[in-house]
Amino acid sequence: MQDQITYFEVTEDIELSDGEIRDINVLLEQLSAKKISCSRAWIEEVARSEVFMAAMHGEQIVGMAILCPTKNLCTGRLGYIHEVVVHTNFRRRGIMARLMQMLHDRARALELDAIELTSDPGNKDRQKAIAGYLKMGYYQKDTGVFVYQFQ
Ligand SMILES: CC(C)(COP(=O)(O)OP(=O)(O)OC[C@H]1O[C@@H](n2cnc3c(N)ncnc32)[C@H](O)[C@@H]1OP(=O)(O)O)[C@@H](O)C(=O)NCCC(=O)NCCS
Repeated sequence: MQDQITYFEVTEDIELSDGEIRDINVLLEQLSAKKISCSRAWIEEVARSEVFMAAMHGEQIVGMAILCPTKNLCTGRLGYIHEVVVHTNFRRRGIMARLMQMLHDRARALELDAIELTSDPGNKDRQKAIAGYLKMGYYQKDTGVFVYQFQ
Protein backbone atom coordinates (compact mmCIF):
# COMPACT_ATOMS: atom_id res chain seq x y z
CA MET A 1 0.00 0.00 0.00
CA GLN A 2 2.87 2.37 0.85
CA ASP A 3 3.98 2.30 -2.80
CA GLN A 4 0.60 3.73 -3.79
CA ILE A 5 1.29 6.76 -1.63
CA THR A 6 3.08 9.75 -3.10
CA TYR A 7 4.51 12.65 -1.16
CA PHE A 8 4.84 16.31 -1.99
CA GLU A 9 5.44 19.68 -0.43
CA VAL A 10 2.47 22.04 -0.47
CA THR A 11 3.95 25.35 -1.65
CA GLU A 12 2.54 28.61 -2.88
CA ASP A 13 3.10 27.44 -6.48
CA ILE A 14 0.76 24.47 -6.07
CA GLU A 15 -2.92 25.18 -6.64
CA LEU A 16 -4.86 22.84 -4.38
CA SER A 17 -8.16 21.53 -5.75
CA ASP A 18 -11.39 22.04 -3.78
CA GLY A 19 -11.24 18.31 -2.96
CA GLU A 20 -7.73 18.68 -1.52
CA ILE A 21 -8.85 21.62 0.64
CA ARG A 22 -11.67 19.37 1.92
CA ASP A 23 -9.18 16.53 2.54
CA ILE A 24 -7.03 18.82 4.69
CA ASN A 25 -10.08 19.82 6.72
CA VAL A 26 -11.07 16.16 7.16
CA LEU A 27 -7.56 15.47 8.50
CA LEU A 28 -7.83 18.43 10.90
CA GLU A 29 -11.12 17.03 12.20
CA GLN A 30 -9.33 13.72 12.85
CA LEU A 31 -6.54 15.56 14.66
CA SER A 32 -8.56 17.76 16.95
CA ALA A 33 -11.80 17.44 18.85
CA LYS A 34 -12.41 21.12 18.06
CA LYS A 35 -14.44 21.95 14.99
CA ILE A 36 -11.92 23.50 12.63
CA SER A 37 -12.53 24.62 9.08
CA CYS A 38 -9.61 26.23 7.30
CA SER A 39 -10.16 28.42 4.30
CA ARG A 40 -8.13 28.02 1.11
CA ALA A 41 -6.55 31.42 1.83
CA TRP A 42 -5.34 30.34 5.27
CA ILE A 43 -3.99 27.00 4.03
CA GLU A 44 -2.12 28.86 1.27
CA GLU A 45 -0.78 31.36 3.81
CA VAL A 46 0.58 28.53 5.98
CA ALA A 47 2.05 26.80 2.91
CA ARG A 48 3.81 30.05 1.97
CA SER A 49 5.60 30.51 5.27
CA GLU A 50 6.07 26.98 6.66
CA VAL A 51 7.26 23.60 5.36
CA PHE A 52 4.02 21.72 4.66
CA MET A 53 4.41 18.07 3.62
CA ALA A 54 1.50 15.99 2.38
CA ALA A 55 0.86 12.36 1.44
CA MET A 56 -1.44 11.52 -1.47
CA HIS A 57 -3.38 8.41 -2.36
CA GLY A 58 -4.84 8.85 -5.82
CA GLU A 59 -6.39 12.29 -5.68
CA GLN A 60 -6.87 12.31 -1.90
CA ILE A 61 -4.58 13.96 0.63
CA VAL A 62 -4.29 11.26 3.31
CA GLY A 63 -1.63 12.67 5.59
CA MET A 64 0.20 15.84 6.49
CA ALA A 65 2.83 17.31 8.78
CA ILE A 66 4.11 20.88 9.09
CA LEU A 67 7.51 22.27 10.16
CA CYS A 68 7.88 25.89 11.35
CA PRO A 69 11.53 26.93 11.41
CA THR A 70 12.34 29.68 13.91
CA LYS A 71 15.38 31.48 15.28
CA ASN A 72 15.66 31.75 19.02
CA LEU A 73 18.27 33.85 20.87
CA CYS A 74 18.78 31.21 23.56
CA THR A 75 18.32 27.95 21.71
CA GLY A 76 19.49 28.81 18.19
CA ARG A 77 17.77 27.51 15.08
CA LEU A 78 14.77 25.57 16.22
CA GLY A 79 11.90 23.98 14.30
CA TYR A 80 8.44 23.20 15.58
CA ILE A 81 6.50 20.34 14.05
CA HIS A 82 2.73 20.38 14.33
CA GLU A 83 -0.43 19.09 12.69
CA VAL A 84 0.89 15.58 12.19
CA VAL A 85 -2.06 13.47 11.11
CA VAL A 86 -2.81 10.50 8.84
CA HIS A 87 -6.32 9.62 7.67
CA THR A 88 -7.87 6.81 9.74
CA ASN A 89 -8.12 4.55 6.64
CA PHE A 90 -4.39 4.84 5.94
CA ARG A 91 -2.76 4.44 9.33
CA ARG A 92 0.00 1.96 10.25
CA ARG A 93 1.52 2.00 6.79
CA GLY A 94 4.53 4.16 7.55
CA ILE A 95 3.02 7.42 6.29
CA MET A 96 3.73 9.45 9.43
CA ALA A 97 7.27 8.07 9.56
CA ARG A 98 7.88 9.13 5.95
CA LEU A 99 6.38 12.62 6.41
CA MET A 100 8.53 13.17 9.51
CA GLN A 101 11.61 11.93 7.64
CA MET A 102 10.93 14.47 4.88
CA LEU A 103 10.61 17.26 7.46
CA HIS A 104 13.84 16.14 9.13
CA ASP A 105 15.62 16.25 5.75
CA ARG A 106 14.40 19.82 5.24
CA ALA A 107 15.36 20.75 8.80
CA ARG A 108 18.89 19.46 8.16
CA ALA A 109 19.07 21.46 4.92
CA LEU A 110 17.97 24.55 6.89
CA GLU A 111 20.71 23.75 9.45
CA LEU A 112 18.29 23.60 12.36
CA ASP A 113 19.84 22.58 15.66
CA ALA A 114 16.75 20.81 16.97
CA ILE A 115 13.08 20.12 16.42
CA GLU A 116 10.50 20.41 19.15
CA LEU A 117 6.92 19.19 19.19
CA THR A 118 4.20 18.80 21.75
CA SER A 119 1.94 15.83 22.30
CA ASP A 120 -0.24 15.05 25.29
CA PRO A 121 0.85 11.72 26.88
CA GLY A 122 -2.48 11.64 28.76
CA ASN A 123 -4.40 11.35 25.48
CA LYS A 124 -4.71 7.70 24.40
CA ASP A 125 -4.66 8.59 20.71
CA ARG A 126 -1.51 10.67 21.13
CA GLN A 127 0.30 7.75 22.75
CA LYS A 128 0.56 6.14 19.28
CA ALA A 129 2.21 9.26 17.91
CA ILE A 130 4.51 9.48 20.94
CA ALA A 131 5.59 5.85 20.44
CA GLY A 132 6.50 6.84 16.87
CA TYR A 133 8.38 9.99 17.91
CA LEU A 134 10.44 8.07 20.49
CA LYS A 135 11.24 5.44 17.86
CA MET A 136 12.43 8.19 15.51
CA GLY A 137 14.90 9.43 18.13
CA TYR A 138 12.95 12.12 19.95
CA TYR A 139 13.43 12.40 23.70
CA GLN A 140 10.96 13.73 26.20
CA LYS A 141 12.18 17.12 27.48
CA ASP A 142 9.17 17.94 29.62
CA THR A 143 5.66 16.64 30.09
CA GLY A 144 4.24 16.65 26.57
CA VAL A 145 7.33 18.23 25.00
CA PHE A 146 9.52 16.12 22.71
CA VAL A 147 12.83 17.09 21.12
CA TYR A 148 14.91 15.76 18.25
CA GLN A 149 18.48 17.02 18.44
CA PHE A 150 20.58 17.22 15.28
CA GLN A 151 24.23 16.33 15.83
C1 LIG B 1 -0.17 9.23 15.06
C2 LIG B 1 -0.43 9.03 13.57
C3 LIG B 1 -0.07 10.34 12.81
C4 LIG B 1 0.45 7.87 13.07
O1 LIG B 1 0.38 7.80 11.66
P1 LIG B 1 0.74 6.43 10.88
O2 LIG B 1 0.99 6.79 9.47
O3 LIG B 1 -0.26 5.43 11.20
O4 LIG B 1 2.13 6.06 11.61
P2 LIG B 1 3.27 5.10 11.00
O5 LIG B 1 2.63 3.94 10.33
O6 LIG B 1 4.23 5.91 10.22
O7 LIG B 1 3.95 4.59 12.35
C5 LIG B 1 5.20 5.10 12.80
C6 LIG B 1 5.42 4.61 14.22
O8 LIG B 1 4.47 5.25 15.09
C7 LIG B 1 4.05 4.31 16.11
N1 LIG B 1 2.62 4.00 15.93
C8 LIG B 1 1.81 4.46 14.94
N2 LIG B 1 0.55 3.98 15.11
C9 LIG B 1 0.56 3.22 16.23
C10 LIG B 1 -0.43 2.46 16.91
N3 LIG B 1 -1.69 2.40 16.46
N4 LIG B 1 -0.06 1.80 18.02
C11 LIG B 1 1.21 1.85 18.48
N5 LIG B 1 2.20 2.54 17.86
C12 LIG B 1 1.88 3.24 16.75
C13 LIG B 1 4.90 3.07 15.92
O9 LIG B 1 6.09 3.24 16.65
C14 LIG B 1 5.19 3.14 14.42
O10 LIG B 1 6.34 2.42 14.05
P3 LIG B 1 6.15 0.84 13.63
O11 LIG B 1 5.04 0.80 12.63
O12 LIG B 1 7.48 0.50 13.06
O13 LIG B 1 5.79 0.14 14.90
C15 LIG B 1 -1.93 8.66 13.32
O14 LIG B 1 -2.30 7.58 14.16
C16 LIG B 1 -2.88 9.82 13.58
O15 LIG B 1 -3.13 10.63 12.67
N6 LIG B 1 -3.39 9.92 14.82
C17 LIG B 1 -4.34 11.01 15.17
C18 LIG B 1 -3.66 12.37 15.17
C19 LIG B 1 -2.48 12.42 16.12
O16 LIG B 1 -2.50 11.90 17.22
N7 LIG B 1 -1.42 13.13 15.66
C20 LIG B 1 -0.25 13.38 16.46
C21 LIG B 1 -0.37 14.70 17.09
S1 LIG B 1 1.00 15.02 18.18
